[in-house]
Amino acid sequence: MTLRPLIAFAKFAAPKKGSIFVLAADDGGLGEPAKACDPSGTLARAFPVAEFSGKFAGVVEVLAPQGTSLDRLVAVGAGKVAGLDDFDWLKLGGTIAASLRKAAEVAVILDVPGAKIGGRQAANLAAGIILRSYSFDKYKTRKDKDDAEPKKPVKVTIHTADPATAKKAFADEVAVIDGVLLARDLVNEPANTLGPIEFAARAKELEALGVEVEILTEKEMKKLGMGSLLGVAQGSPRGARMAVMQWKGGKAKDAPVAFVGKGVTFDTGGNSMKPASGMEDMKGDMGGAAAVIGLIQALAARKAKANVVGIVGLVENAVDGHAQRPGDIVTSMSGQTIEVLNTDAEGRLVLADALWYCNDRFQPKFMVNLATLTGAIMVALGQHYAGLFSNNDELSDRLTAAGQATQERLWRMPLGSEYDKLIDSKNADMKNIGGRYGGAIIAAQFLQRFVKETPWAHLDIAGTAMGSPPSEINQSWGSGFGVRLLDRLVRDNYEG
Ligand code: BES
Ligand code: MN
Ligand code: ZN
Repeated sequence: MTLRPLIAFAKFAAPKKGSIFVLAADDGGLGEPAKACDPSGTLARAFPVAEFSGKFAGVVEVLAPQGTSLDRLVAVGAGKVAGLDDFDWLKLGGTIAASLRKAAEVAVILDVPGAKIGGRQAANLAAGIILRSYSFDKYKTRKDKDDAEPKKPVKVTIHTADPATAKKAFADEVAVIDGVLLARDLVNEPANTLGPIEFAARAKELEALGVEVEILTEKEMKKLGMGSLLGVAQGSPRGARMAVMQWKGGKAKDAPVAFVGKGVTFDTGGNSMKPASGMEDMKGDMGGAAAVIGLIQALAARKAKANVVGIVGLVENAVDGHAQRPGDIVTSMSGQTIEVLNTDAEGRLVLADALWYCNDRFQPKFMVNLATLTGAIMVALGQHYAGLFSNNDELSDRLTAAGQATQERLWRMPLGSEYDKLIDSKNADMKNIGGRYGGAIIAAQFLQRFVKETPWAHLDIAGTAMGSPPSEINQSWGSGFGVRLLDRLVRDNYEG
């Protein structure tokens, strides 16, 4: 197991052992606390031959530097420090984590000439170190000799002008990154060990943080009339659940904000079976639900001053003799009937009942749903933006801004009656697929039929929740996309 780095904050000092990381300004300049670690100037002398300029995220290192008892001195380019945003500091942390190697003890000297580095920056850098260090390796029992992991977690001490402020800011950051890591864990976990029931149990664990958690069973959902969700589940022996999480951190009379996740723990496609190639990726078809749980955990852990509801619809889309067939007509909780023309368009069927239930029971200020909903959104946007569909410009703008700030980016897509018409059905109120084109939009139109006039946004995260290209802050298949984004949305707009 890759062990999570232990982070501490301290005043400037020049440690005598271990590895030291220092920041260099964009002209390669080092601050006094950095120079104190390298009295003979060995590191700076290596800059020209390493073509190190101090450019953002550039790295140069000197092993066993002369005149010291250190293992290693590393310079990391910080570029134009005054212009770095929160995400840049996360990335710098990621860059440091990528260069840790087998170090047991690490000091990071957060100082460059001519710029102030505050507590928030230090906290973000520390968060970047942890996010980048994550790997999903709990099932690896054999390790190559050169791959042997250190048995103890690396200790990282961040030296900064104001360690007390940094420590405080980091406590909030830890809540959020633990939410991200939870979401990654859930997305990476295979479907044989994570079905609807096991997933619901993970939601239940949030009670320890003061979250109210109810788990609806199949029987209860049947009584509520959730024929759309239950139709998807009926081909699997693993059952179906809905987890309803409430964090009450705001004023008692304030309507909550609500987040709803697609939690298909595995998507075979059902009778409209998917091709074999790549089907294993469908263990991640609960990425929306994972983000919702991660978010609620983050908000509760940092005691967010907001009332928040999280709802996840948990099913496995499998095939046995009980599985629903193309052409089946189901009745959703809303009373609207749906002709299921393709059993692989199941996410929208799950969300139809989850969204309706959420709106009906909580009358939230808004609903944001997250779902690995369509391959079509990946065709449209690739893997760097999630699709954003909304009936409300203010909510949409706030989400887009939070996306820019966290670099969990969103691109707004259209909705409209011309698209909506494509899911009218001859035999029922609607069908669950439309024509050949605009598949991500058609899926969104379907969802919109279950939200009434409530401000609502749908995030299609099929391209961003899993299998995204490795980044500065994530090397794992599951990204945890949505947790940092929505934490930011709540923090910037709905607290106090
Ligand atoms: N879970 C899939 C969408 C998906 C595909 C997510 C690839 C991540 C990666 C969803 O349930 C699905 O199968 N959608 C179909 C809809 C179609 C049948 C209208 C799709 O996108 O092909
Ligand atoms: Mn599907
Ligand atoms: Zn699916």
